[in-house]
Amino acid sequence: MSPTYFSYPDPKLQQELKTTAEAIVAPGKGILAVDETNEGIGKLLAVVGSQNTENNRRRYRQLLFTTDNLCEHVSAVILFDETVYQKTDDGVRFMDLLKKKNIIPGIKLDKDVVPLFLSQDEVTTQGLDDLAKRCAEYKKQGCRFAKWRCPLKIGEHTPSVQAINDMAQVLGRYAAVCQSEGLVPIVETDVLLDGDHDIVRTQKVTEIALAALYKALNDHHVYLEGSLLKPNMVTPGQGCAKKNTPREIALATVTALRRTVPAAMPGVAFLSGGQSEEQATVYLNAINQVNLYTPWALTFSYGRALQASVWKTWAGKDENVKKAQLELLKRTKANGLASLGKYQGSGVSSAAGGKSNFSANHKY
Ligand code: 13P
Repeated sequence: MSPTYFSYPDPKLQQELKTTAEAIVAPGKGILAVDETNEGIGKLLAVVGSQNTENNRRRYRQLLFTTDNLCEHVSAVILFDETVYQKTDDGVRFMDLLKKKNIIPGIKLDKDVVPLFLSQDEVTTQGLDDLAKRCAEYKKQGCRFAKWRCPLKIGEHTPSVQAINDMAQVLGRYAAVCQSEGLVPIVETDVLLDGDHDIVRTQKVTEIALAALYKALNDHHVYLEGSLLKPNMVTPGQGCAKKNTPREIALATVTALRRTVPAAMPGVAFLSGGQSEEQATVYLNAINQVNLYTPWALTFSYGRALQASVWKTWAGKDENVKKAQLELLKRTKANGLASLGKYQGSGVSSAAGGKSNFSANHKY
């Protein structure tokens, strides 16, 4: 493949993408991921005894976005399609509210997973066909970035070469289309927590996946300064008998990233993947304390690990909104500190802090 006949995005587009990417990973800030599908949030609503209606989904997201001072440690939120068009009780578009609060809205663009033909239970993601059109529409609505998640499963013979190549090509194509429409692509490779493999296996798989991903991003002429990475942390599988310390997890994670992720890319925003709220914070803190040079910001883009206590406290009831918002602020503050390596632990007790958020074959 010859790169000779391709050039670079025009300087204005480069500047726009780079400015947005850097703002998302500004020091002490990270991303609140609330892009659960209608099916995904439906399960959470069921737990608190609420019906999965458009209004209940809106009420929950309104709770999050109307939290005072949310922008202190949250630079950006990832939304699901429906949320882009919803309004507060007072008729203010969520998009306008977020903008006023200095929080950058982004959009989930993958249309979930489908089986990878003849594989051992592996998947691919869909949504590329009409992607440019969808990007243009979300950009018009005010989104400035996007995310696309590709999961990889560790098993005895997986992830296969086919699944890794597929993940890399799909994310490369997605990222290029996003940039062509003025959205910063967050590329998400999620080496799943499911399994009883040890940390060494996760590290090697993560390195192979990220190496393939960045080869593909370069092949697709993605402007790295205007992109972000959302990877898993390197931990042992959920069922592994040997548990590792936060320091070991941090060192394995930073080592894998240093071996594979270009310095031109401004920031790594980890997914929480089923870790408890406290684990996700403690690991992020340890990652930022590793005594090795890292050229990127290392921060959070958590879904479950920012919202478990909020759900528990809200419990579907309007009278609990304020208390639930305080829970959200506790977690965003803890993770903001962790993204600087300054989290002291213990000071923060959250409603669901120590509880695992893992569920096998989790669907967002
Ligand atoms: P979790 O932090 O719950 O794994 O969610 C991350 C994510 O990908 C949602 O955008």
